[in-house]
Amino acid sequence: SPTDILMTAPMMPIATEALDKAFTIHRLWEQPDQEAYLREVGPRIRGVATSTLYGRTDAKLLDHLPNAEIISSVGVGYDNVDAAEAARRGIVVTNTPGVLDDEVADLTIGLLLATLRKIPQADRYLREGRWPEAPFPLSATLRNRKVGIVGLGRIGKAIARRLSGFDVSLAYHGRTQQDDVAFTYYPTAVGLAEACDVLIVITPGGASTRHLINAEVLRALGPNGVLINVARGSVVDEQALIEALKSGTILSAGLDVYEDEPQVPQELIDLEHVVLLPHIASASVHTRNAMGKLAADNLIAWFQGKGPLTPVPETPYSGRVT
Ligand code: GLV
Ligand code: GLV
Repeated sequence: SPTDILMTAPMMPIATEALDKAFTIHRLWEQPDQEAYLREVGPRIRGVATSTLYGRTDAKLLDHLPNAEIISSVGVGYDNVDAAEAARRGIVVTNTPGVLDDEVADLTIGLLLATLRKIPQADRYLREGRWPEAPFPLSATLRNRKVGIVGLGRIGKAIARRLSGFDVSLAYHGRTQQDDVAFTYYPTAVGLAEACDVLIVITPGGASTRHLINAEVLRALGPNGVLINVARGSVVDEQALIEALKSGTILSAGLDVYEDEPQVPQELIDLEHVVLLPHIASASVHTRNAMGKLAADNLIAWFQGKGPLTPVPETPYSGRVT
């Protein structure tokens, strides 16, 4: 009989169709009483299809799934999965790296320019009929900027490649200096912020980067400083950011992610000098299809005995265990 898979949230049709063909899919989000449903089907479940944008796969859920072998998560970030707990239970975790780097990098450049040049604010100004009254106020600029990238992984490098066409100078911070990178390395986020007037945050979320961007880093960024966060809301101390924006400690911010998504603090919404996006960096049809397909392919490959395609570092694949 077909293998039972628990799907925790809706996936793209291309992924759902592939999974429906290969497996018996149990759709958790459709269940009015999820606890009762998990008690009933949980013991049969051998794989989980989930997404970084919805819910958490942790010990509480895994306790219902004693026969789970693999958790396939849509998204490059997988802070929605307790990977250490999965590793302890011998469960492989996969994410969808690589297929979204260019999409996220494109959006990051768009958000940076939108924030500096106040593109959404200018659009609102025109629609509100204010142009005939007075020209839109002059904006800040990307000219002569020094841009610091926090997290120079695959996406960070794709952002750097794009920025190299904008005639700005680049620097970066990450856990370790990379030998093959020519930009200046700063071992601390504060050091990078002191040297730069734009910070682009694209480091993984989770405990090790929580509030890496705090009040001290924002002070170091300074009154001409612009913060762009396309990583995870948890990386930035949101309350410190709100204070820094209100007090003029930094100039402006462009955000795609928040600490308590999809809730966004009213204090941010009330500020005119921030650009706020609803976590859309990878959200094109093209790229979400590629992510969904890779997540489905990980499950299909695993149950064909071929191993996972893209396991996360916490659960390296070292031969099939079952
Ligand atoms: C893809 O399957 C998604 O979750 O967007
Ligand atoms: C989206 O935020 C992702 O991690 O893919």
